[in-house]
Amino acid sequence: MTLQKLPAFWAIIPAAGVGSRMRADRPKQYLPLAGKTILEHTLACFVDHPRLKGLVISLAEDDPFWAQLPCASDPRIELAVGGDERAESVLNALLRLAELGAEEHDWVLVHDAARPNLAREDLDLLLAELAHDPVGGLLAVPARDTLKRANADGRVKETVDRSVIWQAYTPQMFRLGFLHRAMAEALVSDVAITDEASAVEWAGQAPRLIEGRADNIKVTRQEDLNNLARIWRDRQ
Ligand code: C5P
Repeated sequence: MTLQKLPAFWAIIPAAGVGSRMRADRPKQYLPLAGKTILEHTLACFVDHPRLKGLVISLAEDDPFWAQLPCASDPRIELAVGGDERAESVLNALLRLAELGAEEHDWVLVHDAARPNLAREDLDLLLAELAHDPVGGLLAVPARDTLKRANADGRVKETVDRSVIWQAYTPQMFRLGFLHRAMAEALVSDVAITDEASAVEWAGQAPRLIEGRADNIKVTRQEDLNNLARIWRDRQ
């Protein structure tokens, strides 16, 4: 009898975005939050996680901010070059993982650099719930508000059944080989890929939704940063 090697877990943090909607003087992942940058808070949840074998972060080629952070010299953090689209940044990081010894069947967790408030319990929940799943999946939050579909004049066309609508969060967790093929083929076919799950869906699979905490928010606008600052203040 041959013993099958258990898949390892790896993490990717795409951090090569510009974050233009923040209208700040630097990409949003480098904005300050409670004495550190957003990116440092994001990394903290992953870097010493005992189940993760390695971590790759994708940075813009001309990024002048990363080298100024203390974690830039952390040997546990590997770098990849980001691309114009988030999907390209993730693809380059997947290639880097393969260079580091990650295998086809290993799990990869992809988490937005701009989501600094991921709780360790949510990360552990995702690992536990999906470790034996045939496809993988993502943290997500069920829609809370009543939802409307708009017509072209900005009027309500209809009310959407919210019981089947979820907001897609990260981390998103898939097998390295499958995710790589799905994303590469989707990119070549010019399909809009805004997260890893959309590439997996496009490839014909159904990712599992794992309900996570609603405060794992992505910083997109100044009000998101204000909300996070409030969460940190309350925590102290
Ligand atoms: O812009 P958005 O908020 O959707 O970006 C989500 C994440 O993807 C951020 O962490 C951002 O830095 C990253 N990203 C990237 N490369 C791009 C665009 C976005 O790594 N070209």
